[in-house]
Amino acid sequence: MANSNLTNAKNAKNDEFYTQYHDIEKEITAYLEFNPDVFRGKTVLLPCDDPEWSNFTKFFAQNFERFGLKKLISTSYAVESKKYKSFYQPTLFEVNDPQFDEYKTKKNGKIFILNHDKSGDGKVDVNDLEWHYLAGDGDFKSNEIKKLRDEADIIITNPPFSLFREFLAWIIEAEKQFVIIGNMNAITYKEVFPLIKSDKMWLGNGFHAGNAYFSTTFTKEYAAGVYNPETGLVKFRNVCWFTNLDHGRRHQPLPLMTMADNLKFSKHKNIKGKEAYEKYDNYDAIEVPFTDAIPSGFDGVMGVPISFLDKYSPEQFEILGATESEGKGFSEGLWDETSKISQPVVRNERVYKRIFIKHREKTI
Ligand SMILES: C[S@@+](CC[C@H](N)C(=O)[O-])C[C@H]1O[C@@H](n2cnc3c(N)ncnc32)[C@H](O)[C@@H]1O
Repeated sequence: MANSNLTNAKNAKNDEFYTQYHDIEKEITAYLEFNPDVFRGKTVLLPCDDPEWSNFTKFFAQNFERFGLKKLISTSYAVESKKYKSFYQPTLFEVNDPQFDEYKTKKNGKIFILNHDKSGDGKVDVNDLEWHYLAGDGDFKSNEIKKLRDEADIIITNPPFSLFREFLAWIIEAEKQFVIIGNMNAITYKEVFPLIKSDKMWLGNGFHAGNAYFSTTFTKEYAAGVYNPETGLVKFRNVCWFTNLDHGRRHQPLPLMTMADNLKFSKHKNIKGKEAYEKYDNYDAIEVPFTDAIPSGFDGVMGVPISFLDKYSPEQFEILGATESEGKGFSEGLWDETSKISQPVVRNERVYKRIFIKHREKTI
């Protein structure tokens, strides 16, 4: 019981991280560079947001005309429905609006819509956003938000971390385009990996140098090095963007050395000087512990860390499977079931989860 309370508290906090403007800008720019018309004539939905102060809403509203958007919709989740209860004060923007309602401000979600020049200043921008209270609390699973999902072409947000699986399934069942933030560990979830393997979802362009910074109200809970009191931000290294919109970086092949050169010159001490790459005891593949140690010219199956996906180009590699720890059958027959150990093992030592890949024939 005590444990489950702890887990609930942790989950509640993990749902309240707010994305930085320049991270959104950098990510969205990558899709625009690949296809300048990616948003043209499209309806974009930003669910699980806090539109009065969200950088997602601000960024898309400010760029409404430049992107050629048809409609921008942004919704928030009611304060009293949030798992984490904290002191709440409505913004002045809301209190000073004739629609303000003391009950609804806590119990209902809000919707912000942008689709025309309301102010009459000759342009459509953040000043033209119109808002009202939702009938319900803004839960993405509600029929009210599902209707908005169905109306949208592209769904973009940083969803609550504790509901990532449900949120992704909610997008996939409606067959929408999306750009969402999540934890890299989600890659091997049984609901996630099949999408990655079949190229229905991939990693986005990514956070600068792999560091994602978020603002949060729970700063005190983080160790030095995670929370920076000067910026007021927490830093995570295992967070990434998941998407099915194309971008240039995923078509850039990874420069690689041959196996012989890796064994001679690798910067990794557990590769350099060895006679050969290790083979797993219980999977039919070689162990490649670092993405930059993937040997060129090798036509067999290789087990690589999940962070490989950040460098994955579908023209260079084929994803065959993953280790069995999350989903049965993930390894596509590479696993020796008689070992009864689903984690990859090298000389009796377990290593972390792996993805199995092969070079595409033309790139061997
Ligand atoms: C990780 S935060 C991100 C907020 C914002 N999108 C951003 O990036 O700045 C996720 C938000 O979703 C809200 N949320 C939690 N459960 C939700 C649900 N079932 N439906 C809609 N929103 C939810 C949280 O309260 C939180 O405001």
